[in-house]
Amino acid sequence: MKRVLNATRVAALIGDFDRSPAYEGVAHGLRDLIIAGRIPTGIRLPSERELTEALGVSRTTVARAYALLRELGFLESRQGSGSVAVLPQSDTHRGDHLLRPTDGGVVAGDVIDLTCAAPSPGPGLMRAYERATAELAPYLGGTGYYPSGLPSLRELVAATFTDRGVPTSADQILVVPGALAGLAVAARALLSAGDRVVVESPTYPNAIAALTEAGARVVGVDTSDRGWDPTTMAATIRQVSPRLAYLVPDFHNPTGALIGDEARDIVARELVRGRTTAVVDESMLDVDLDGGPLPRPFAAYAADTITLGSMSKGYWGGLRVGWIRAPRDRMDALIGARLSLDLGTPVFEQLVAIELLQSREETLAHRRTTLRASRDAALSALATHLPDWRVARPRGGLSLWCELPESGASALAREATRHGVLLTPGPAFAPEGGMDRYLRVPYALPPETMTEAVTRIAAAWRETLDLPKGLTTPRRTLVA
Ligand SMILES: Cc1ncc(COP(=O)(O)O)c(C=O)c1O
Repeated sequence: MKRVLNATRVAALIGDFDRSPAYEGVAHGLRDLIIAGRIPTGIRLPSERELTEALGVSRTTVARAYALLRELGFLESRQGSGSVAVLPQSDTHRGDHLLRPTDGGVVAGDVIDLTCAAPSPGPGLMRAYERATAELAPYLGGTGYYPSGLPSLRELVAATFTDRGVPTSADQILVVPGALAGLAVAARALLSAGDRVVVESPTYPNAIAALTEAGARVVGVDTSDRGWDPTTMAATIRQVSPRLAYLVPDFHNPTGALIGDEARDIVARELVRGRTTAVVDESMLDVDLDGGPLPRPFAAYAADTITLGSMSKGYWGGLRVGWIRAPRDRMDALIGARLSLDLGTPVFEQLVAIELLQSREETLAHRRTTLRASRDAALSALATHLPDWRVARPRGGLSLWCELPESGASALAREATRHGVLLTPGPAFAPEGGMDRYLRVPYALPPETMTEAVTRIAAAWRETLDLPKGLTTPRRTLVA
C-alpha cells in the first residue's frame, strides 16, 4: 500500500504561498518540497478535496495545481492509487532525498553531478583486485559464508582501533557491506518503534532514512554552524533521553566538522549518565586532507559506543566493505540482527579490502593529495564568484557546507539543473526540516570540474535571486 501524506501536514509544509495566482503558488510550493526531499517520491498526496479543505482554497485551485504539477512531471495520477509525488524523468535530474551515486560525476553530456560526496577509485585499486584474485583459491573449498567477516580482515580492522588508542580484538569487529549497512544493523539490533534517536542537524540523509525506517523518532541538534556546541548537545540528550545518538564527529557529512576532545568528553559523559548508546559513524576518517593530530576516538570516551567504519571514502564505495566495532557484550545482538538482513559481506571484496589496508598509507596519501586540490579549487572559485557565501575550509571530509546570504537553496538546486549541475540543497540533510539557507558542495571531482561547477552554480544563484520570492522558497515549518 502506498504511504499517504495527510492534508494538514501538506498544508503546513506548504505554509504561505503566493496567491497570484493561487494554483501556481500551491503547485510551486509542492514542487519545491518534492525537489528538496521534504515530500518523498512515491508518497501519495492527499485527495483534491482534502487538500482544498486544509488549505482553505477553492477546489479549482487545487485541481489546477495538481494538473500543473502533472504537466511539470512532479505528479503521477494512477487509477486506484491517487496522485503520487515523482521527480521528472530526465537524464539530468537524478536528485533524490536518498543520495544516489552516478558515474564519475558527469552524468549525461556535460552535466556535473554534485549530489554525491564520494570519490572515484585511486590508482591502487586495480592492483588490489588483481592481488586479491591470487588469494581467493583457498576460500573456494568452503561455503564462503562468513557472517561476521573474514578473520584476517577482522584482525586488521581491530588493529587499526588498537593503534588509535582503543584496544580492540577481532571478535569485536563485524564486517558489513558499508557503514550505512552497519547503521541499519545497529538500528535493527537496538531500536524499537518509537524510540528517540538524537542526531546532528544537518546530517547524512541516508542515515536519517535508515533510522526512520527502523521506527525511530529522530531529534536533531543544530550543528549547522559546523560543529557541536557540546553544552546544547548534552542538554538535548538530557531532555530527550534518547535510546541512541547517531553522531559523525570526524569530518562530518555535510559540514566537515571535526569535533575536539573536550566536546567529545562532555557529550560522552552525558550519554553514559543517561545510558544512551552512541552510534558513531567514522566513514570520513580516512579523508583527513591536511593531517595533524586527531582527537581520540569517541569509543575512548564512552566504552559502550558502537563505531561504524568504511572503505568507501578512502578507497572506493563500489567495494561495499565497512565494519561495526562494538563492546563484546553487544556482539551477539548485532550478529543476530545482521543475520536477518544478509549472511555476510562478499569474500572477494573482503580480500580486496585486506590488500588495500595493507598498502594503506600509499593509497590514502594519493587520495588526500587529489582531494586537497579539488577542495581548494572549489573554495577559490566560491571566493571569486560567490563572495557573500559563508564557507569554511574543512580539514577533511568530502564537502563544503555553504551558508547562503538568504534562503533559496532548493530553488537554486532547481535552477542549477538548467545550468548542468545537480545539487542537493540543505533541506535534504535536515532531519526536522529547514536548512534552505544551506547548500552542500561535495569536492570529490577533479579541480577543473569543481571550478566549472561553481561558475555554473554562481550563474544559477544570480537567476534564483531574480525569481519572485513566494514562488521559489519552500516552507520550513516542521518541528517533530
Ligand atoms: C556519514 C556517512 N555515513 C555513511 C556513508 C555511506 O557509507 P558506505 O558506503 O560505507 O555505506 C556516507 C556516505 O556518504 C556518509 O557520509
